[in-house]
Amino acid sequence: MTRTAPRPIRRVCIVGASGKLGQYMIQHALDRGWQVVGVCREESVGKLDAFADRIEIVPGRTNDREVVRRAVAGCDGVLTVLVPWGVDHYASGTAQAVLDFAEPDARLVFSCGWHITRDGQDHYSPLFLAGVWLFGKLARLVRVVDLDDQVEAANRVFASDRRWTVVRGSDLEEGDSEGLPVWSEHVGDPVLASNLTRRVDFALFMVHALEDEALVHQVPAIVSCRSASARAA
Ligand SMILES: NC(=O)c1ccc[n+]([C@@H]2O[C@H](COP(=O)([O-])OP(=O)(O)OC[C@H]3O[C@@H](n4cnc5c(N)ncnc54)[C@H](OP(=O)(O)O)[C@@H]3O)[C@@H](O)[C@H]2O)c1
Repeated sequence: MTRTAPRPIRRVCIVGASGKLGQYMIQHALDRGWQVVGVCREESVGKLDAFADRIEIVPGRTNDREVVRRAVAGCDGVLTVLVPWGVDHYASGTAQAVLDFAEPDARLVFSCGWHITRDGQDHYSPLFLAGVWLFGKLARLVRVVDLDDQVEAANRVFASDRRWTVVRGSDLEEGDSEGLPVWSEHVGDPVLASNLTRRVDFALFMVHALEDEALVHQVPAIVSCRSASARAA
């Protein structure tokens, strides 16, 4: 794909807008004076009442290709919350729809957790790996969550020549902002050891990434800038 000058961000689509991360991203985007289009499931539209007069809402499942096609039209950036819900390829369907229908030069930023790896060079603690394994097994058993499909979604993004970033969140907590998280290429890097970020700052990093060219085709793993490991680095 021919690269052109970065497209200034004026209008963004948030796919998965009604969740906690999505709502924080809406606020950060509005704070920047951007127009916001939010996609969320019909039953969740009420969660966005506080923003109803300031954003456009496109109700529908985030893996509904027609819904995503309408929502991303004319958007300079798309922020996508990748969640491994359901066992009907929800995450990969969502990612594929965004990859297929976003404007050709739009910045695409996707969220996931540390368990996603692009190059296999991440180093996980045995406790972390055991947690992911157990969660994945239990989730598949009750057929509510499909972690493998979130991996598939990320792999489709990695294979794309779109202008993407996949942001990998550490463990999350609620609370006031501590500032833009720091990031590193690989889980296991000492700066990330504290493994904790405020959810509001995860959202801040996602929104920041839309305008940070250095993050194009990167898979940053993030941690709070005020965490002990970040301060020690
Ligand atoms: N939770 C963590 O500790 C953690 C850690 C690291 C990274 N992350 C990443 O952070 C992102 C947001 O995670 P979060 O835990 O903070 O969640 P969240 O922001 O509350 O978002 C949950 C999302 O999942 C959707 N959802 C819930 N139930 C669903 C269902 N049955 N079918 C389809 N969609 C459903 C929600 O939509 P509705 O509003 O319609 O319900 C919402 O968009 C994800 O990419 C996750 O991988 C999370």
